[in-house]
Amino acid sequence: MTDTQFTPRVFSGIQPSGGLTLGNYLGAMKRFVDMQDEGSYQTIYCMVDLHAITAKLQDPATLRHNTRELAAGFIAAGVDPQKSILINQSQVPEHAQLAWIFNCVARMGWMGRMTQWKDKAGKNAETASLGLFAYPALMAADILIYHATHVPVGEDQKQHLELTRDIAAKFNHDYGVDFFPLTEPVIEGAATRVMSLRDGSKKMSKSDPSDASRINLTDDADTIAKKIRKAKTDPDALPSEIEGLKDRPEARNLVNIYAALNDQTVEQVLAEVGGQQFGTFKPLLADLAVAKMSPISTRMAELMADTAEIDRILANGATQAREITAPILRKTYDIVGMVG
Ligand code: TYM
Repeated sequence: MTDTQFTPRVFSGIQPSGGLTLGNYLGAMKRFVDMQDEGSYQTIYCMVDLHAITAKLQDPATLRHNTRELAAGFIAAGVDPQKSILINQSQVPEHAQLAWIFNCVARMGWMGRMTQWKDKAGKNAETASLGLFAYPALMAADILIYHATHVPVGEDQKQHLELTRDIAAKFNHDYGVDFFPLTEPVIEGAATRVMSLRDGSKKMSKSDPSDASRINLTDDADTIAKKIRKAKTDPDALPSEIEGLKDRPEARNLVNIYAALNDQTVEQVLAEVGGQQFGTFKPLLADLAVAKMSPISTRMAELMADTAEIDRILANGATQAREITAPILRKTYDIVGMVG
């Protein structure tokens, strides 16, 4: 542990790799808004465009479009640029500069053990980009260039956040300083792992070939309702206790989604809907999902009609961000022994 008191500061990021899902919304964005509105933290949210080019070549025009669309998604979901700093990663160069230092702190073995590296590179590690391998060091830099103390994410990012702590601890130890905080992951709520609507054992993901497996933030009300009506379920009624969801991944997923959308616990939802058949529960869930999600897609479309305004918000966010990141990078360089 470090003894230094750090300002309570939240950082999190999402890749602008096209297509936001209900998983991104419930696992990340909605939590970002909650932490922003709670008022106990300074909040910084980021489109990680440098990460988005690690896995495959992105068409430049599409990447620019996806970055602006993600910014619109953040704002439509409730991130308020007056209350949070909203940035695009490449516009704050200190992220990449600190990442280089962390490339020299992190060990090859640590990176090789990352499950996302293994999943994404698979058997083709030889032909994967160096950037994909170093991805977690850039992610650690995203967080630590702000001395962020808390990082809200979905379950799938847990290992990367453990590595972030390892990098901070090794830097502090190697240089005999107490400079970087050991950041806390915030993986909380009913929807830290939203599953596919077609297969309760698979994560809901923008890369799933079946569009019916996910709800996209750009889906209209009819599409959202239809996807929920068609979601895979089992023939049994819903239980009134959590234990009754054991070995029922599809039922558990739909109840988790309901709870997260309605700001309830799973226990509260089951107390209300226990005993219902899916024929009754699915229309309730569809109505709730449409009520919560379709205003976001409408607002996103409105915001995308004025991309110059989005660019202004991002430029302003970068200026605010650099007031924090420039001194932290300068101090890091001093610690490491760079003349300047
Ligand atoms: P990314 O872009 O894959 O996902 C963004 C956020 O959405 C969450 N998420 C989910 N949560 C619940 N259920 C799902 N099905 C689901 N799918 C996605 C992810 O957990 C994540 O919180 N490496 C990160 C981006 C990143 C970052 C950072 C995050 C870069 N730097 C610094 C935090 C802090 C990523 O690829 O997320």
